[in-house]
Amino acid sequence: MAETNRTASFTLDGESHELPVLSPTEGPDVVDIRKLYSQADVFTYDPGFTSTAACESAITFIDGDEGILLHRGYPIGQLAEKSHYLEVCYLLLYGELPSADQLETFETTVTRHTMIHEQMHNFFRGFRRDAHPMATMVGVVGAMSAFYHDSTDINDPWQREVASFRLIAKMPTIAAMAYKYSIGQPFVYPRNDLDYAANFLNMCFSVPSERYDVDPILARAMDRIFTLHADHEQNASTSTVRLASSSGANPFACIAAGIACLWGPAHGGANQACLEMLRQIGTVDRIPEFIDRAKDRNDPFRLMGFGHRVYKNFDPRATVMKQSADEVLELLGIEDNPTLQVAKELEKQALDDPYFADKKLFPNVDFYSGIILEAMGFPTSMFTPIFALSRTVGWISQWKEQLSDPALKIGRPRQLYTGAAQRDYVDVENR
Ligand code: SDX
Repeated sequence: MAETNRTASFTLDGESHELPVLSPTEGPDVVDIRKLYSQADVFTYDPGFTSTAACESAITFIDGDEGILLHRGYPIGQLAEKSHYLEVCYLLLYGELPSADQLETFETTVTRHTMIHEQMHNFFRGFRRDAHPMATMVGVVGAMSAFYHDSTDINDPWQREVASFRLIAKMPTIAAMAYKYSIGQPFVYPRNDLDYAANFLNMCFSVPSERYDVDPILARAMDRIFTLHADHEQNASTSTVRLASSSGANPFACIAAGIACLWGPAHGGANQACLEMLRQIGTVDRIPEFIDRAKDRNDPFRLMGFGHRVYKNFDPRATVMKQSADEVLELLGIEDNPTLQVAKELEKQALDDPYFADKKLFPNVDFYSGIILEAMGFPTSMFTPIFALSRTVGWISQWKEQLSDPALKIGRPRQLYTGAAQRDYVDVENR
């Protein structure tokens, strides 16, 4: 964080105050308000943190106006085209692209951690078959702290490393098991001869009774979806992981908290909600009806897959995802997929509508991901679990970064209290 010799001055009740201004590598300067309360006896008020930097980070940078997303300085478009998910995991975790040897060691280590403790299989059987797989993932990931006691001490760098590998490696296994359990098929064990994305597809779609060969184009599209969802600054679920970790909670509990937060339809649940919306629209001729509803302030309906807290231009991930959607549907021979036709026409009509242009509401990462996942054969209930397994490396990277910050304090926001002033208790007979 670059200290500057600049300050921000303000006057309150006739008293002048000065606060330091800090300059980042990229993005707007920040006013350091850490001493504001002690100096001026006031809080700031920013519900939703629209103008508040909650931490310092060197992992990901977003320029919402320019539609830029960098991971450790590398543009997401280049990573999606030239890299692959586990290499991006290494980059997010360690800050630099790996050498060939480093990458091989990293991938081998992840591969060797993909199985879960055999006794954890029993957890799945405690859920109803129709449980949402996100409920299963929250439960099973949280329960990992009941099995992997040798990687729960956050003060031990070695245990932090082991927990990181276990979570990145086991999330696809847990997500696939949640899916298999929901459809009554047997669990499929990880295969060390397959890469990360192909292994996930095999665990989801193979059955013991016949040979299953993963289509390399689908595996590449799956890997690209993982990469596009890997990390995204201080979004709601990442902030949840950071806040949980600030109390000293173990890594499995922190990631379970992140999964729970991601589930919401305003966040990671949007890909499921978006596809359900596209299905509800059904045909191109009904699009105007839904656009009108989205514009109606008295109607809570929103266009799922549109808008973003930070991107006030296009979401660079949506651009790449749209290309993948075209490739996958062409491969599967369903490029005339009615849902995709509705999606493309909805995008066109929404972007031509001043309401969306004025409010800078553009398709986000969730707009096209659901179409690809549905084309691959996933039910909508698996869309957010796939987002969660992709984002685990982002949560873990941010969790490790925060733990290595010597200035780490427990997160404890203040409030603007508008409740009753102090008053005395009244006995029930006198009320
Ligand atoms: C993700 O933070 C991240 O980085 C998240 C994420 C990640 O990688 O982690 O990128 C992943 O969560 C993407 C977002 C997925 N969510 C959706 O697609 C759900 C639909 N989108 C909205 O819920 C909304 O756009 C948010 C929650 C994403 C952003 O909301 P903001 O920035 O808090 O904006 P807002 O709710 O204050 O809306 C501003 C205005 C409002 O109108 P006014 O009150 O000013 O009249 O825009 C309107 C909103 O009504 N608006 C929409 C809209 N989104 C905002 N109107 C119609 N349809 C929409 N989708």
